[in-house]
Amino acid sequence: MVQEQSALAQTPAPPRKKIVLSGVQPTGVLHIGNYVGALSLWAQQQDEFHNYFMIADMHALTVPENVKAKALRANSRSVAALYIASGIDPEKNVIFRQSSVTAHAYLAWILTCCTPMGWLERMTQFKVKAEQVESIGTGLFTYPALQAADILLYNADYVPVGEDQRQHVELTRDIASRFNHLFGKCFRLPEGLYRTTGARVMGFDDPTAKMSKSLAETQSGHAVNLLDPPNVVKKTIMSAVTDTNNEARFEHASPGVRNLLELYEVLTKQERPQIEAQFHGQGYGSLKAAVVEAVNETLRPIQETYKQITEEPGYLDGLLARGAERAGEVAERTLKRARELTGL
Ligand code: ADP
Ligand code: TRP
Repeated sequence: MVQEQSALAQTPAPPRKKIVLSGVQPTGVLHIGNYVGALSLWAQQQDEFHNYFMIADMHALTVPENVKAKALRANSRSVAALYIASGIDPEKNVIFRQSSVTAHAYLAWILTCCTPMGWLERMTQFKVKAEQVESIGTGLFTYPALQAADILLYNADYVPVGEDQRQHVELTRDIASRFNHLFGKCFRLPEGLYRTTGARVMGFDDPTAKMSKSLAETQSGHAVNLLDPPNVVKKTIMSAVTDTNNEARFEHASPGVRNLLELYEVLTKQERPQIEAQFHGQGYGSLKAAVVEAVNETLRPIQETYKQITEEPGYLDGLLARGAERAGEVAERTLKRARELTGL
């Protein structure tokens, strides 16, 4: 007995499971870019990490002119259903709505006070979005401080996101360092996780613009949404902008063709030489038809699970309530320490 105990004492503790936090704004139907750049990456790595997947509904308020309460609530539930339909196990991972955990708003204020204006003025997403809206709300400007709060409350090691969020993750590190320096060690500095291929899916109608929910709403043919039926997927992808050559090699292709090749690569997990051998010199019709098939194969199970989940009364509400409780416990602990350190 005594011997067993000492053997136990010598066994090194298992390494801590690293923590992941990420989220998507519920501002419209998610598109294949969100799936490839974020959701599929989360699902793929879920067993390796302890995960918090958030529905960033407070971020959706940054352009209040576009918000209708009923639609925001419905979109939030729809995004939660799409997380699960994309393969994220709701039993093993914490799925929650940002606005259900009030610590996000509280810590966001503390972090806003620690963020120099100049840092926020450099944010590319702010500059782009500010051009798209009639009146620029202060929240649109301070949005990265709220995002920093989202990440730091859970002591996340990793933040798996698309390439467009790289600047926000790096800013989060800067804000965390500044707080730690001013008030004492409180936050772990997180790192972004990005796909090597697929971190920036471009619009099918304009391969120089990142596929985005807002452009998808105003430009038909821009994006494939995760709930699009197969004939709509076909129409969108068959009309994708390409060029007049026959160049289907990754390094030489024009942006529109490269976008299709990369999408095909990520969805089918095939090697580049194999893909090039299949499509180079063929005319783009066969590449497009193959991408249509790969996208529809990916979307079919997602749409089936989505339908089941959304038809089950009370399921999502129960899940989100449990998620909020689990996330809230962790977030409150971090907030308590930040309050102690700042004297609040
Ligand atoms: P959108 O810009 O379409 O409104 P979000 O800003 O809510 O989408 O992004 C949610 C997640 O999806 C983030 O991790 C973001 O980096 C990722 N993402 C968004 N658009 C793309 C894209 N075109 N390609 C790859 N990832 C993307
Ligand atoms: N800002 C992110 C986007 O527009 C969404 C988001 C909010 C997020 N909070 C986050 C992503 C925290 C990662 C971590 O896509």
